[in-house]
Amino acid sequence: MAEPFRIRPASAEDAAALAGLERRCFSDPWSAEAFRATLDTPGGGGFVAEAGAGPAGYVLTLNAGRVAEILNVAVAPEYRLRWLARRLVAEAVASLEGEGVREMFLEVRESNAGALRLYEGAGFGRIGRRRKYYRQPAEDALVLRRPPAPAEAAS
Ligand SMILES: CC(C)(COP(=O)(O)OP(=O)(O)OC[C@H]1O[C@@H](n2cnc3c(N)ncnc32)[C@H](O)[C@@H]1OP(=O)(O)O)[C@@H](O)C(=O)NCCC(=O)NCCS
Repeated sequence: MAEPFRIRPASAEDAAALAGLERRCFSDPWSAEAFRATLDTPGGGGFVAEAGAGPAGYVLTLNAGRVAEILNVAVAPEYRLRWLARRLVAEAVASLEGEGVREMFLEVRESNAGALRLYEGAGFGRIGRRRKYYRQPAEDALVLRRPPAPAEAAS
C-alpha cells in the first residue's frame, strides 16, 4: 500500500492547525501562539506529517547549537501505531544532527509508556526526573538524553 503521509518542515503558518491537533492529543495543550512563537524563534523548528486535509502529526524542536530539545511530538489518534511518530522523530534527529547538534534532551510524563518506548527506540535514555513538572494532571517528568553518536563522542 502506498504511504499516505508526506513529511515536511514546519513553519509558523502551521501554528493554528498544529494547535488544533495538539488539543486532541494533550490534556494541557499548547496554544497556537505558543506554536507560532516557537516556530518563529531562531533555532525553533520541526516537521509536520500531512495526510489528506490536515496534519496527522508533528514534532517540534529547539536547536541551541550543539544541544537541542525535542519540545513536543503528537500523532492524531486515528493515525497512531503506524510508526508515524517514529518517522517524525527520526527526521527531526537527522535534521538536527545535520545542523551540528550533538546531544538532545526532552521531558516526558512518567506515565506515558508509549512516548517512552518511542523515545527509547530513537536512542534516548533516562537521566533524571523533574518533580511535579506537568499540570492537568500534576505529574513528574522523566528527563531523557540522546548522547552524541559514538564516532563523535571521543572528539
Ligand atoms: C506518543 C505518540 C506520539 C506515539 O505516536 P505513534 O505514531 O502512535 O507512535 P509509533 O507508531 O511511531 O510508535 C513508536 C513506538 O512506540 C510504541 N508505542 C506507541 N504508542 C504506544 C502505546 N500507547 N503503548 C505502547 N507502545 C506504544 C510503538 O509500539 C513503537 O514501538 P516499536 O518501535 O518498538 O515498534 C502518540 O501516541 C501521541 O500523540 N500521544 C499523545 C501525545 C503524546 O503523549 N506525545 C508525547 C509527549 S512527550
